[in-house]
Amino acid sequence: MTILNVRLKPEPPKEFPIYIGLGDTLTAMTLIKKHYNGKQIVVITDRNVAKLYGDKLKNYLEIDGFNVLFLTVNSGESAKSTLVKEKLELQMLEQKIDRHALILAFGGGVIGDLAGFVASTYMRGIKYIQLPTTLLAMIDSSVGGKTAINTKLGKNLIGSFYQPLAVIMDLTYLNSLSKKMRINGLIEAIKIFLTSDRDSFYFLRDNLDKVLKLDGDAIKLVIEKAVKLKVQVVEEDEKEQNLRMILNFGHTIGHAIEKLEKYKILHGYAVALGILVEVKIAHLMKKLNENDVNIIFDFFKKLNITTKRLRTLNKEDIALATIGDKKNKQGEISCILLKNIGKVALENGMVATQISHSVIVDSLKKIIEK
Ligand code: GLY
Repeated sequence: MTILNVRLKPEPPKEFPIYIGLGDTLTAMTLIKKHYNGKQIVVITDRNVAKLYGDKLKNYLEIDGFNVLFLTVNSGESAKSTLVKEKLELQMLEQKIDRHALILAFGGGVIGDLAGFVASTYMRGIKYIQLPTTLLAMIDSSVGGKTAINTKLGKNLIGSFYQPLAVIMDLTYLNSLSKKMRINGLIEAIKIFLTSDRDSFYFLRDNLDKVLKLDGDAIKLVIEKAVKLKVQVVEEDEKEQNLRMILNFGHTIGHAIEKLEKYKILHGYAVALGILVEVKIAHLMKKLNENDVNIIFDFFKKLNITTKRLRTLNKEDIALATIGDKKNKQGEISCILLKNIGKVALENGMVATQISHSVIVDSLKKIIEK
């Protein structure tokens, strides 16, 4: 037998900027031009964003001399599908988009994940820039290079790690978001603060009204802090071998709830319920004290998020729906458990702890009675 060992050159470290500020479409244009010197831009967005901001963006891009292919998909989680991905790819191929084109992911988390995944596989990978328009996308999904689509067997199970050329967060887009959508995004900040930064959690709790009203300083501080924390995690563990799993706090149960609710529940709200269940699991497993549990539950009450919604779901079904979770190993369910507010409990140096089916059901029973 002949064995040829293939040794590829290690890739140079990747580096890209995240811009956070109050801009306007013009500022975004300047930044896009700074990072992309080609001619062809494919804007991928959804119908809501297209209606609000599509014409302006397209006009500015064209005035700047770019050829623009403007592709819209339906709003909502259902767009993260193989079908929609294939449709976008075929449209791009029909329009003879080559590998030098740039994709502009213009929208919320669904668009960032979908457009990023198209970018990562189109002609084996083309450049893209994230231009998030929702709080959830700014705080979480546009940062870190995770791209994905869903399947009927679970969320984000097909995807890639693929970093953009830049992320441009223009906070003026947040003005069009309803309170519900602001809370939806804020959950991802709460998630990272609970796992990594006690002071920021209390800052957010004590300035909640200002943040929800998009008070310039308060909201910018929260976004900057959450993004900085996330960047530290991603720099340390881009491919989620260990540390990055902390960003899945609340998601083991959250994704199970989304699946059972057929994705009709907003992601942030499902994660919020997931956080409450996982906080209770940590308490039942004697990792987290009761005082912290109460502080967290009280805070979520201020957001009008209680466990009432869980009453309509079957506890066994929730536990069973965690089985396809990506963190699971050899059929065991894994979950991020808090040690206290701002810290995650470690198990043999790993941030994910194995939990039993029965502890999920027990914690659900306890918090539904609460
Ligand atoms: N949204 C979780 C992560 O980026 O890892």
